[in-house]
Amino acid sequence: MGKAPIKVLITGAAGQIGYALAPRVASGSMLGADQPVILHLLDIPPAAQSLDGVKMELIDSAFPLLHGVVATTDVDEATKDVDIAVMVGGFPRKAGMERKDVMSKNVSIYKSQASALEKNAKPGVKVLVVANPANTNALILKENAPSIPPENITCLTRLDHNRALGQVAERTGTPVSEVKNVIIWGNHSSSQYPDVAHGTVAGKPIKEAVADDAWLAGDFISTVQQRGAAIIKMRGMSSALSAASSACDHIRDWIKGTPSGTWVSMGVFSDGSYGAPKDVVFSFPVECKDGGWSIVQGLKIDDFAAGKLKATGDELVEEKALALECLAESSQ
Ligand code: NAD
Ligand code: LMR
Repeated sequence: MGKAPIKVLITGAAGQIGYALAPRVASGSMLGADQPVILHLLDIPPAAQSLDGVKMELIDSAFPLLHGVVATTDVDEATKDVDIAVMVGGFPRKAGMERKDVMSKNVSIYKSQASALEKNAKPGVKVLVVANPANTNALILKENAPSIPPENITCLTRLDHNRALGQVAERTGTPVSEVKNVIIWGNHSSSQYPDVAHGTVAGKPIKEAVADDAWLAGDFISTVQQRGAAIIKMRGMSSALSAASSACDHIRDWIKGTPSGTWVSMGVFSDGSYGAPKDVVFSFPVECKDGGWSIVQGLKIDDFAAGKLKATGDELVEEKALALECLAESSQ
C-alpha cells in the first residue's frame, strides 16, 4: 500500500509565490517522489476566482502525487488537519517600500491565522512563514498559537542561504552543489549577516577558494543582503520562483534531515545561542534530523561577525516592539 497523503496548506495561494509553489509541492519537490499530498490553498475573497483558476490548473496538470485540492477563502477549512503550513499570504513589499511599511498589515493577519492553525491543524503541524516581515510574522504566530510547539514554527531564510551559495558558486566557477555551510544569521532583511567563514567549495575553505577577502567582506555581503530588493527592481515584483524553490528546500531538509556535517539556515525561535537576542525568531545554522532541528554550536565568531550579529539582532528586537505596537493599535 502507498503512503498516506500529507496535507500541505499554502496561504496566499493565488499570489505569485503560491503559483510557483503549489506545482512544486504537487510534483514531489518538497516531500519526495513517493509522497502523495493534498493541497489546501487559502486566499482572501477578492482573489477567490484566481484561486479557483489555480485549482483548475493543478487538476489539469494530472500530478500523480496530488490526491486532492481544497481551494477556499475560509481559514478554518483551509487549516483543517494540515500537517505542514506554508504561510505566504499577505501584502508584499512594492518598489520604494521599506519592509517596515508592510508590518502593520501583515502582523494582524498572522495573529488571526495563528489561532486558526492552533484550533484546526494536526498537533504536530510544521509551520514555515514566508510572508514579510517573515521573522516577526513567525514570532507573532508563535505568540498566538501557544499549543503549537515553538520549535515547529520557523521562517524562511533559506532563500538568502541559497543566494549566498549561488554567489560563491558564480564567483568560483563551481557547481553550486559543491558549495556548503554558508550561514545566514538574523533577520530576513538587509541587516542579515551572510557568513562564509565556515563554508567550503569542493572541500576547500570558501576564503581560500575565492581568494578575494575584500569581495567577501564587501560586495558579497551587500549583494546577498540586497538581493530581494534587486529582484523587485528588475521584475517589479518580489522573487517568486526562487522563494518557492527555497521553501521546498526548507521543508524537505527539516523533514528528511541534512547530510552529516552539513547545515542549512532556518529562522527559528532563539535560545540566545551566539549572543543572539532571546524571544525573537532568528536565523541560525541548523542541522536537521528525525523531523527536528538543532542549532549548530561551537562555531568561532570573530569581532567582525559579532558586530553583524548584534546589528541584525537589534533590528529584530525593534521589529518585535513595532509589531506589538501595531497589534495594540489595531485592537483599540
Ligand atoms: P502576492 O501579492 O503575489 O501574493 C500574496 C497573496 O496573499 C495574494 O494572493 C493575496 O490575496 C494573499 N493574501 C492577502 N491577505 C491574505 C490573508 N489574510 N490570507 C490569505 N491570503 C492572503 O505576493 P508574493 O509575491 O507571492 O509574496 C508573498 C509574501 O512573501 C510577501 O510578503 C513577500 O514580501 C514575501 N516574500 C518572502 C520571501 C522570503 O524569502 N522570506 C521571499 C519573497 C517574498
Ligand atoms: C526577497 O528576499 O526576495 C523578499 O523578501 C523581498 C521582499 O521584500 O519581498
